[in-house]
Amino acid sequence: MAKKRLYIKTYGCQMNVYDSARMADVLAPMGYESAAGPEDADLVILNTCHIREKAAEKVYSEVGRLRHLKDEKARQGGRMLLAVGGCVAQAQGEEMMRRAPAIDLVFGPQTYHELPDLLGRATRDLMATGRSRVVAIDLATDEKFDRLPEEAAPQGASAFLTIQEGCDKFCSFCVVPYTRGAEFSRPVAAVLAEARRMVAAGAAEITLLGQNVNAYHGADGDGGTLGLGGLMRRLAGIGGLERIRYTTSHPRDVDDDLIDAHRDVPQIMPFLHLPVQSGSDRILKAMNRRHTADRYREIVASLRTARPDLALSSDFIVGYPGETDADFEATMALVREVRFAMAYSFKYSPRPGTPAADLEDQVPEAVKSARLAALQDELNRQQEEFNRSCVGRTLPVLLERGGRHARQLVGRSPYMQAVSVDMGSNEADLRGSICDVEIEAVLSNSLRGRLIGRETMVAAQ
Ligand code: 5AD
Ligand code: SF4
Repeated sequence: MAKKRLYIKTYGCQMNVYDSARMADVLAPMGYESAAGPEDADLVILNTCHIREKAAEKVYSEVGRLRHLKDEKARQGGRMLLAVGGCVAQAQGEEMMRRAPAIDLVFGPQTYHELPDLLGRATRDLMATGRSRVVAIDLATDEKFDRLPEEAAPQGASAFLTIQEGCDKFCSFCVVPYTRGAEFSRPVAAVLAEARRMVAAGAAEITLLGQNVNAYHGADGDGGTLGLGGLMRRLAGIGGLERIRYTTSHPRDVDDDLIDAHRDVPQIMPFLHLPVQSGSDRILKAMNRRHTADRYREIVASLRTARPDLALSSDFIVGYPGETDADFEATMALVREVRFAMAYSFKYSPRPGTPAADLEDQVPEAVKSARLAALQDELNRQQEEFNRSCVGRTLPVLLERGGRHARQLVGRSPYMQAVSVDMGSNEADLRGSICDVEIEAVLSNSLRGRLIGRETMVAAQ
């Protein structure tokens, strides 16, 4: 089989990172190997994100750049196929083709197991007519996971595993229910089998992914279902799996069993991304979040009782339609009270087709900017404070890759902080292992530490 080169550019969330890896798995039997950049590629896939306007617009700029590359290749008698997948593809479908005719194939997140077929059609159309306009955006398929091949390429010491996809919650600002479709959980056995393969291929840490990961309720093979807490208890039985994380959770789906799992299962890392979006009950109601700010406080308190060293991360939206100064102040009050080790915050971005986009009382851009700056100021202060509190402590760090300097490795602490570790005179390649590291300093985007000793050795590759 002729070798072909594939370049995938991934935007957005970790699920897109996972999806891109699976697209490469699907295409490997067709002879596709990974290319270093789009210049070397016979097929370029943009795996896109539609969550905010800026994320979506980036795709069109990239298509513009790639069009020149494509034209240049054609002049030299070659060919480059350009495919756009992911959430912008799902949301815009045919419209993408009209706006950017250089695109040969548009395919949504629930169709990528069909890529070999879709590419075949695109190639035939190109040869027959000089033009391909293949669009596949069927959301209703629930057969993707059954039809994907086993993962071909190992993801390394820290791997992503999608266990749940889609969303039935319909927060009024969010495109996800429209781009990823209805909520769906993979069966327990399929998740366990994939996790075992990942560990055998060198993963010490697995991050379970889902747009609503704690809504997980996978078939247990006995006619019942298992929730996320139960699933993680089962995963913890896999020898060599040292760390379990999960993202992204919804406060509504934090149940007692999940909280207890944080207490009982040492492999579950003491770090949780639990988006709250706003601290104002009025805005939470308007957002259709279906929980109050106090309920969020209660959940955090229970989690911290279960796992006292738990650190939290969150997502915030400022400037949701109708948000007043008092609403924003309620968000600030919640932040000051809960305290976050890190957080993401965004200006509300109207997304076509979502209920909030059509509301009249949109907040002026300047107000959004001022609120975002104030919130980020506070969140940055809290992050810095958390990072500084780690100095002098010895933390287990999963070493993943080489650092910027010789004799330096980079990994993650239990709290997801990037830690660069000076290996000193240690000659062993400790990539893939969890080591005790004394944290010495806080740098701008990471921590710096000194190797104290090796905690666990897992199959280093
Ligand atoms: N505008 C701004 N931020 C948004 N998010 C989702 N939709 C929007 C939107 N329309 C944010 C939420 C979510 C995160 C992934 O992105 O905070 O948790
Ligand atoms: Fe972006 Fe949401 Fe799609 Fe992830 S699921 S790529 S965050 S729009």
